[in-house]
Amino acid sequence: MSRQFKVAVVGATGAVGEVMLSILAERKFPVGEIVALASERSAGEYVKFGDDEVMVRDLATFDPAGVDIALFSAGGSISKEYAPKFAAAGAVVIDNSSAFRYDDDVPLVVSEVNPDQVRNRPRGIIANPNCSTMQMLVALGPIHRKAGIERINVATYQSVSGAGRSGLEELGRQTAALLNFQEAAPERFQAQIAFNLIPHIDDFQDNGFTKEEMKLVWETRKILGDDRIQVNPTAVRVPVFYGHSEAVNVETREKISAEAVRALLETAPGVEVVDERKPGGYPTPVTHASGRDPVYVGRIREDFSHPRAVNLWIVSDNIRKGAALNAVQIAELVAAEG
Ligand code: A2P
Repeated sequence: MSRQFKVAVVGATGAVGEVMLSILAERKFPVGEIVALASERSAGEYVKFGDDEVMVRDLATFDPAGVDIALFSAGGSISKEYAPKFAAAGAVVIDNSSAFRYDDDVPLVVSEVNPDQVRNRPRGIIANPNCSTMQMLVALGPIHRKAGIERINVATYQSVSGAGRSGLEELGRQTAALLNFQEAAPERFQAQIAFNLIPHIDDFQDNGFTKEEMKLVWETRKILGDDRIQVNPTAVRVPVFYGHSEAVNVETREKISAEAVRALLETAPGVEVVDERKPGGYPTPVTHASGRDPVYVGRIREDFSHPRAVNLWIVSDNIRKGAALNAVQIAELVAAEG
């Protein structure tokens, strides 16, 4: 019989943790035992794992000895405190927070782009990239390999599920309130999100960019292994439940035509091209991405204002490829090491 793994999901009651459990079951990951962990508040509740229900246990009192693989998605401070404890107990930790992403001795892996980095984990921790970087690089990785990326201009349109369950609840609550002529006071977001846009995700930095924007800079360079790549990002929260979208302009070192980009992406792993140049012939979060695995790319066209640049519209389910699916794909790479 092939090897079975004891797998822990930390943050099992959250928006990402729930989908980690469902994707582990859906992809038939060789789970010998599953452990669902969250805060003391949720201990004793049940979460779904395929057709089974699993009782949630309190992370604070759980003994990680014997866990083979731990998927963390309970926020940066929980990862900082508990991931090293799980790694010290022998688990391979796959962490969805930004706690370790920029540490030199922690690989940052998009499974289609730099899978080989999974083995390079001296601390037993592998970081899962930010959702916006993830979908962008699934599409841009092949372009970088072919023509070399010099600079990326990107504006994101990020759904509320990226802020977790409380983000989903806030959009629902505010939408219902406004349609009933009631107040829609912001709690989770910095301004009203229903019927609105907010050009602010994560903390402001000294340079005027937000941390969410700087993640696109730092993570792109680390994953593509090229510090020369320039990235100019603007990150915007939009009133969409699931699925991030990105308007991306890529300047390449060598000229590459829109046709060549389309051909490249048609065979790229994890990518689906939807680019028909007619009404509806492009991906949107609701019609294509939500609940599905691929990174969808459309609106591929040469930038007529620049000698070597192409525009793309990139859409993906931020909870699936942007978080839970990539974490499970990393776990599959670890499991395949034998
Ligand atoms: P809980 O439901 O017990 O609060 P989301 O990103 O959707 O908000 O989910 C965050 C996840 O992180 C939830 O599963 C949440 O569990 C978990 N979490 C939050 N704080 C802690 C904590 N102190 N210890 C363990 N898990 C936590």
